Amino acid sequence: MHNAAFRSLGLNWCYVAFEVDPKHLRAAIEGARALDIAGFNLTVPHKLLAVEMMDALDESAKMYGAVNTVRFERSSGKTRVTGFNTDADAIAIALREDLGVKLRGARVLLLGAGGAGRTAALKLASERVAELHLVNRTPSKAEQIAAELKKRFPSVMVTAGYPAGKMDLVLNATSLGLKPSDPSPLDERQFPLSRTQAVYDMIYRPAQTRLLASAKKAGCKTANGLGMLLHQGVKAFKIWTGRAAPIEIMRSALEKNVYGD
Ligand code: ATR
Repeated sequence: MHNAAFRSLGLNWCYVAFEVDPKHLRAAIEGARALDIAGFNLTVPHKLLAVEMMDALDESAKMYGAVNTVRFERSSGKTRVTGFNTDADAIAIALREDLGVKLRGARVLLLGAGGAGRTAALKLASERVAELHLVNRTPSKAEQIAAELKKRFPSVMVTAGYPAGKMDLVLNATSLGLKPSDPSPLDERQFPLSRTQAVYDMIYRPAQTRLLASAKKAGCKTANGLGMLLHQGVKAFKIWTGRAAPIEIMRSALEKNVYGD
C-alpha cells in the first residue's frame, strides 16, 4: 500500500520488509539511521522493545507504551529517531468506517489481553466507552489491564469476564482465528452473539474467521481487520512524508495484495 501511494504522488521512495532478530533490533535502528532512511514500521515483538531505543517518543507511543512507526529527523548534522503509535487511532477509525460504531458511550466486549488487546483497551477507554468487559484465556492478564484502566479512566465501567447484558460491539484482539483450524475466541455459551449488534475481528487473513462467520449468521454487522491495517498505514504515511495519504489507492493496493484480484 505504501509503494502504491508513493507512485501515485510521484515520490521517489520505496517501502521494503526486513526480518530482524529481536536481539539485533538496536543495531538495525542504528543501521537505518546511518543509511539515511526516512523511517520504518515495526511489528511484534519489536513494538515494545523499541520504546527504550528511541531518542524521543510521540504522545501516542507514550500513551500505549508501544511503537509501531518510527521517523528519523535530521538537523545540523544530527539524526534523531522518534517513535509513534498509529495502531490505536486506526482501531477507532476502522470501527467507525467499517461498522458505524461510535465509541463514546458504547458497550464493548473485548477478547484478548496481549499487546493488541491492551492497546485496544486503552484506546476504547480513552474514547470514553460506557462499558468495557475484558475476556482472556489467561484471566490474570485481563484483570491486570482492568485494574490499570479503572485507575486511568474512572468514568468507564470496566470488568474482567463476560458481561450479562447486551453489547454494541464484540472486538477480537486475540490471535485465535489465524489458523483455519482455530476455534472461535468467543464462548457463545457465556455470551450468545444475539446479544451484540456488531463484531470486529482484528484478523484480516483469513478474511472470514469462525467468529465472523457465526456473527454474520446471527445477524450482526461484521468487519475484519483490514481497515485497521490500512489506517495505521495511512497515519504512518503522513508521519514520514508530511503529505496526506491517498487512502483509496492504498486501500485497493492492500486488498489486491492481501486477497488477490
Ligand atoms: P498480540 O501482540 O498480537 O496481541 P500477544 O501479545 O501474543 O500478541 O497476544 C495474543 C493474544 O491471543 C492473547 O490474548 C492470548 O491469550 P493469553 O494471554 O492467554 O496468552 C490470545 N491467545 C493466543 N492463543 C490462544 C488460544 N489458543 N486460545 C485462547 N487465546 C489465545
